Amino acid sequence: MAETFDLIVIGSGPGGYVCAIRAAQLGMKVACVEKRATLGGTCLNIGCIPSKALLQSSEVFHQTAHGLKDHGIAVGEVNFDLARMQARKGEVVSANTKGIEFLFKKNKITWIKGAARFIGPNAIEVGGSAYSAKSIVIATGSESVPLKGVEVDEKRIVTSTGALELDKVPGRLVVIGGGVIGLELGSVWARLGAKVTVVEFLERITPFLDGEICKAFQQSLTKQGFTFKLGHKVTGATTGKDGVTLTIEPAKGGAAETLEADIVLLAIGRRAYTEGLNLAAAGVATDARGLVLTDAHYATNVPGIYAIGDVIAGPMLAHKAEEEGVALAELLAGQAGHVNYDAIPGVVYTWPEVASVGRTEEELKAAGVAYKVGKFPFMANGRARAMGEMEGFAKVLSDKTTDRLLGAHIIGPDAGTLIAELVTAIEFGASAEDVARVCHAHPTLSEVVKEAALAADGRALHI
Ligand code: FAD
Ligand code: NAI
Repeated sequence: MAETFDLIVIGSGPGGYVCAIRAAQLGMKVACVEKRATLGGTCLNIGCIPSKALLQSSEVFHQTAHGLKDHGIAVGEVNFDLARMQARKGEVVSANTKGIEFLFKKNKITWIKGAARFIGPNAIEVGGSAYSAKSIVIATGSESVPLKGVEVDEKRIVTSTGALELDKVPGRLVVIGGGVIGLELGSVWARLGAKVTVVEFLERITPFLDGEICKAFQQSLTKQGFTFKLGHKVTGATTGKDGVTLTIEPAKGGAAETLEADIVLLAIGRRAYTEGLNLAAAGVATDARGLVLTDAHYATNVPGIYAIGDVIAGPMLAHKAEEEGVALAELLAGQAGHVNYDAIPGVVYTWPEVASVGRTEEELKAAGVAYKVGKFPFMANGRARAMGEMEGFAKVLSDKTTDRLLGAHIIGPDAGTLIAELVTAIEFGASAEDVARVCHAHPTLSEVVKEAALAADGRALHI
């Protein structure tokens, strides 16, 4: 006899584990299947958390080595111990994954250890045992997109997983793909001494960002020592004893050239992961790219089977997966779960950070929406000056007629934290004037947001 639950969640990433916890809070008998040895999915084990641990360590090193003189602080020669840095990263990951295990126990969620495969519309098998549930949620996440001719071995040619595990700083790191992973992990290794070259297919990096922000971002990274080969594609990679030779060509056609690298990081996007799930046994439909198809309430084409997170459409972000997990658990409990996809922030955790929410200027133009722009630079902010972090600016976009906030974009110190105010404003349907009228503590970086909102009405005060 199959053990029965109200809800089985397949995958314990931020989508799956949050869905499981919320469903348990709402009184359901819940199990979560995870095949990895630890809970937390890509995010906690090989994604958000380990990358932020290394970004933090490399930032502290870089600041100590290069940023203290200006403050009148003298230090001797600054060194780092990569093995200790990596061990610390491991400790951070472990504390987080154990935290999810604790939360599962606290909420009486059963962790079924192993890989799940469907054996029918409401039944799965894990390690030879069958389990059934009224509702099953697919939250199996995503994996790195491969590239023909570039064979990943996770040693010389790595995905983000291997790039987080390097035991030596590469002399030359070539990143394929100028997106979030390439620029974050490129920053880690650049700060520790690698010469980083980014090969990007398009004529710009981070194509999803507002154009003006993107330009400033590329300039900043170039100042930090990054080299960009825009409008180029990689056509082949040969691994030798001492490194990798990449062949690249202009995307529009033209003469090929070669690039030598000690390590190549392949980061051209991620794709839905459903391998081994045996979706066919349940009859769950996917699209041509392998994304599980759902309606607005996360229901697949099979009654009782739902999907959330990276495995469905939308931005592949941990907080998006979490919001969907909560909304779905609430919908299953008969409540009105809902996710506002217009108010999902995106943050690139480089330095300066880049954060955005809502529409870019290019999107508004393409949609024919009349808008106002308000901008304010960190250069004119007292706190940023005191910190010695004057790079970047905040930009708000509001409707020309109603002044309703449509998008906000920040490049600068702590942009990822500053954007939260504008996400809240958009969630509440606020206008730029609403933000401008809020009292912001002085001296804080958040005054840049207020001034950008004032600037949308042509009345910034400190510029
Ligand atoms: P996942 O976290 O991928 O979890 C899916 C889980 O399902 C996995 O643990 C997998 O083992 C398990 N699984 C799969 N198939 C089965 C099966 N058949 N049976 C049992 N278990 C199964 N996002 C951010 O918002 N901020 C960041 O800073 C950020 N940094 C990132 C850095 C890197 C290097 C990477 C790779 C990603 C980063 N992301 C970040 C993206 C984020 O990790 C994902 O959006 C998020 O993890 C998606 O959550 P999920 O629950 O959908 O799936
Ligand atoms: P991405 O989608 O951010 O960037 C991929 C880049 O590669 C794009 O600029 C694209 O134009 C380029 N590209 C595609 N094919 C190419 C080719 N053949 N040659 C050269 N360039 C090519 O994908 P990335 O960086 O791999 O990240 C995957 C996902 O992980 C993202 O969707 C992101 O949301 C998530 N993530 C989020 C983070 C965050 O929120 N801070 C951090 C890291 C990852």
